[in-house]
Amino acid sequence: MAEASRLAHWEDVYTSREETGVSWFQDNPAPSLELIERAGATKDSDIIDIGGGASRLADHLLERGFRRVTVLDISQGALDLACLRIGRRASEVRWIAADVTEWNPSRRFDIWHDRAAFHFLVDPSDRAAYVARLKEALRPGGHAIIATFALDGPEKCSGLPVYRTDASGLAKELGDEFTLVESRRHDHVTPSNATQRFQFSVFQRRGG
Ligand SMILES: C[S@@+](CC[C@H](N)C(=O)[O-])C[C@H]1O[C@@H](n2cnc3c(N)ncnc32)[C@H](O)[C@@H]1O
Repeated sequence: MAEASRLAHWEDVYTSREETGVSWFQDNPAPSLELIERAGATKDSDIIDIGGGASRLADHLLERGFRRVTVLDISQGALDLACLRIGRRASEVRWIAADVTEWNPSRRFDIWHDRAAFHFLVDPSDRAAYVARLKEALRPGGHAIIATFALDGPEKCSGLPVYRTDASGLAKELGDEFTLVESRRHDHVTPSNATQRFQFSVFQRRGG
């Protein structure tokens, strides 16, 4: 998908839909929070949520005392929604409006979290560009937590085709600089009561 049409798609989603009405809405991002804690994050860990959109993960991380939270999303509209909701404490979060496949990371992170952004990269060259950014941005020894639709999950998300995978498929995409630490399946129940099968995988970057 060309970058311009990708951007237009997501800006349209976030300007035309209620934050709580999108299929991926989660009031409490419990699986992500648990895996971030299990990856050994401390309150000073640098955590980035890739394709975080208007997700409530940043709110929950702030509430739990995490001080270095960054949210990256292609849609400025999504980030504006999240800022509005968080209110005064939004200034404690770093907000980056960028396409992850084109982004130039200027710092390194301890935790890279992505729920349902990587799976839109159906073109292998986009996935390779994503992995290149991951390698630039994640410090050796840091953890990448990536959630996609599972192999038996839906074929589309937000009307777009998705790349479904499992932990071993993701391990092949990331390459031998990453060790699989754990993976789990998660059934997400959408606001319209449909069940979507997700696969969460945690990798550690070698070294560090
Ligand atoms: C299905 S939503 C998930 C949002 C959020 N992670 C959550 O769990 O609620 C996918 C998000 O990825 C963002 N996104 C899609 N492609 C992207 C890209 N290439 N770079 C950055 N963000 C992207 C979208 O704008 C959208 O916010």
